[in-house]
Amino acid sequence: MSLIIDYKPRDVFKPYHQNDKRFSITIAHRRAGKTVARVNRIIKEAVLCKKEQPRFGYLAPYYVQAKDIAWLYFKRFCLPLIELGAKCNESELSITMPHNGAIIKLYGAENADRMRGLYFDGIVIDEAQDISRGVINQVIMPALSDRQGWLDVSGTVRGTENLLYDFLVDAQATPQDWFWQVLKASETNIIDPDELLRLKKLMSDNEYAQEFECDFNALVTGLVYGAEIAQSELEGRILDFEYQANVAVNTVWDLGFDDATAIWFYQQSGNEIHLIDYYENSLEKIEHYCSIVASKPYHYGNHYVPHDAANKTLQGGGRSIISQAHELGVRMNLVQATTQQNAINALSKVFPRLHFHKTNCKDGLRAIKNYRYIFDNDRKRYKEKPYHDWASHGCDALEMIARVIKQPESPEIFNKPRFLNDMTADELFWGNEVKRETRI
Ligand SMILES: Nc1ncnc2c1ncn2[C@@H]1O[C@H](COP(=O)(O)OP(=O)(O)O)[C@@H](O)[C@H]1O
Ligand SMILES: [Mg+2]
Repeated sequence: MSLIIDYKPRDVFKPYHQNDKRFSITIAHRRAGKTVARVNRIIKEAVLCKKEQPRFGYLAPYYVQAKDIAWLYFKRFCLPLIELGAKCNESELSITMPHNGAIIKLYGAENADRMRGLYFDGIVIDEAQDISRGVINQVIMPALSDRQGWLDVSGTVRGTENLLYDFLVDAQATPQDWFWQVLKASETNIIDPDELLRLKKLMSDNEYAQEFECDFNALVTGLVYGAEIAQSELEGRILDFEYQANVAVNTVWDLGFDDATAIWFYQQSGNEIHLIDYYENSLEKIEHYCSIVASKPYHYGNHYVPHDAANKTLQGGGRSIISQAHELGVRMNLVQATTQQNAINALSKVFPRLHFHKTNCKDGLRAIKNYRYIFDNDRKRYKEKPYHDWASHGCDALEMIARVIKQPESPEIFNKPRFLNDMTADELFWGNEVKRETRI
């Protein structure tokens, strides 16, 4: 019996479908048909797979995005299979093939934890420019390693500071492992030239160059700290330097589980604030972060965390983050909440004092370089709140620095360790310095 799927690849995707490399990447203009091509690749692989209990995943930055973007395509192209008995589970966003039990399931990177511990024979990552490297390293790569599964990446250009560009660099360096293609609207002839002209008029030059001409050098617009980071680069404040072993190292944290936990390590040196290190991870418990902090060679001053670290958590068996961390030797200071706008304004003000260790803070700098406002096409201006994605966490953590740093005339020379029982309950709970400084 033959099976006919109602899909005819566009010419530019024929080489993609014909390649047999383990890794593939397509960077293409909007509406090129990347998602449709991916969906059909997964379906074909799932139908033909001869392995035991095959499993394939489609990952978008957010679960709702996976649903909005790809689910309808999957259902549409799987129609003949559904007629043959394939099971389509609407609440799980999964399709199970009738003849070999192959499962195709859709996921969002914000709860990639659901993919953990599973094996996959193939995974598609769509809109990879919006997905963090952490998800790839901790979830996707291990999930593919069991059965030597394939990885398929696609997305639209947004500068060079993101996963999509990293993958393209890898692909171009190792063409024996990778199939790669970059598709510009001026070359694919998929979108009607009049329509392209109309879009060009509607969009800024930078936006058009990125979204339709795959221009990696086009300025990424809408960045929250775009001017600040450019100024830091211009003034040579992003470079490798030695940290000062006799000066206390403080940390500022943003806490998450599914969302990343981000930690900046910094020292004050007169008026300057030296960001000497950065750590980010997700899907790990507080023990993990405390052991990372303890493993560094630094003499610590204060560890500043958001106020909600005092809340009791289910993961902590009803205990709060700070009480768990205290037991693990990391004494945390709570920082009171403020509005997002205040936090951003405050960090902008201190930004000229920040010096970043280029190598150690690479991932943190990347978060800053991707934290952005989304353009609201209806209202013709940027939205008031920055977009919440993988870049938010490093920025939320850094913003806390502006609220906790000391005045320049009081350098923090590390001399004596402070023990838990040296502190008052108030200090323990609020952190001495935080209370004083948030009143200013
Ligand atoms: N092979 C194809 N044949 C016909 N229409 C297609 C094909 N591939 C994509 N399309 C259509 O083009 C549009 C954009 O496809 P999509 O895959 O969502 O693009 P992208 O992911 O590149 O933005 C959709 O309307 C889709 O139905
Ligand atoms: Mg798409």
